[in-house]
Amino acid sequence: MINASVDQTIRLISTGKSSGSTCSPDLATAPWEFDAGVPGYGPGSSMGDVIPTGSPRQGELPELYRTAAPAELDERIRVAKATLGERVVVLGHFYQRDEVVRHADFVGDSFQLAQATRSRPNAEAIVFCGVHFMAETADLLSGPDQAVILPNLAAGCSMADMADIDSVTECWEQLTELYGTEPDADGRVPVIPVTYMNSSAALKGFCGENGGIVCTSSNAETVLEWAFERGQRVLFFPDQHLGRNTAKAMGIPLERMPMWNPTRPLGGNTAPELDSAQVILWHGFCSVHKRFTVDQIAAARQTHPGVRVIVHPECPMPVVDAADEYGSTDYIRRAIAAAPAGSTFAIGTEINLVQRLAAEHPEHTIFCLDPVVCPCSTMYRIHAGYLAWVLDALVGTAERPAAVLNRITVADDVADHARLALERMLAALPTAPATVPAPVTASAPVSALAGA
Ligand code: 13P
Repeated sequence: MINASVDQTIRLISTGKSSGSTCSPDLATAPWEFDAGVPGYGPGSSMGDVIPTGSPRQGELPELYRTAAPAELDERIRVAKATLGERVVVLGHFYQRDEVVRHADFVGDSFQLAQATRSRPNAEAIVFCGVHFMAETADLLSGPDQAVILPNLAAGCSMADMADIDSVTECWEQLTELYGTEPDADGRVPVIPVTYMNSSAALKGFCGENGGIVCTSSNAETVLEWAFERGQRVLFFPDQHLGRNTAKAMGIPLERMPMWNPTRPLGGNTAPELDSAQVILWHGFCSVHKRFTVDQIAAARQTHPGVRVIVHPECPMPVVDAADEYGSTDYIRRAIAAAPAGSTFAIGTEINLVQRLAAEHPEHTIFCLDPVVCPCSTMYRIHAGYLAWVLDALVGTAERPAAVLNRITVADDVADHARLALERMLAALPTAPATVPAPVTASAPVSALAGA
């Protein structure tokens, strides 16, 4: 039982029996106890991050689902799914708890799940076991009559919340004031906005409306190539690390990737710094991947000579540089599946996936780089109790008619543009790396950057 292992570790930490510090001893508590309290991300890696006041709150989960034993919840989910048949499809991200993942019809990374959204056009309901921005994406890509359900509305993403539409619009206005909107002689506009999938639908809409695009961790390089064909520079949000790691791998020097801090004029940069920029990085980050360090990699190499270190590109650049490889959650899964038996892996990503891979591959030694368990607190909020609750509601009873609970609907005023940015991503294909503008000196005029 994979999650028994995660839960057991959390219990050991919470009772003080495990050594080392962790996110919170409250990790062992049921997620509904946090949903009812003060708005916050609850226990886990992002619990210290600020949650926007407008974030959705989850109403109280009926007692039946809070007190049911795991086996009972499992059975309820099975029965409801069997009753609903083709009327429902359950999608699950790799970071979900094992007791949720086992009920998913599709399990994947965020790109694969976006594609999977379209796999069952006849399903009336898509139950998305992931986080809020993924459910929004599913709503954008699914049919108008399909209802997308997020079992726990409090499953947000603190990184996504680090870029809001007002701050990005303000940034855009400052950049427009500097560079205008006219394309250069090669037809490249001054700035192309690129948003990571981990962002609100409003930001995807902003990108669609302003000639931009969405990327995921599995296609970020392809998407940046797409953007450089059309623009002189890229504004990349919200994850600075994915942007930096991807741009660096494409040969873009660090001095041409200034960071944008929305609390400061010009994001804390000078105009010449922005003139020479190829990628302007928003200052967001993932609290789970920020925990991985170069010291952990050194320790893993010392204890396990020959270990293969693979990390997610949301990790800070020094960690990615010190690793042997980096890639999306699906990349990590495939790399492990393809390795010769007896391999040893140290993995830098969320613990639920690492534990599951370790259980699925007893022929390898697989461990998490971070020795202290700290799940993604928002992914962890999709407890089997919430999944059983929304599925039972879809089935209905003699006393209670069938109902769609926790439907996620993207507002009409952003949906078309957001869908456009997603469609551009789905259609983007890798091109020759030569499309990336070649480095020029910081003092070069903007037109030189554009044409380079
Ligand atoms: P991928 O699913 O694209 O690997 O990224 C997962 C994610 O959202 C990490 O925060």
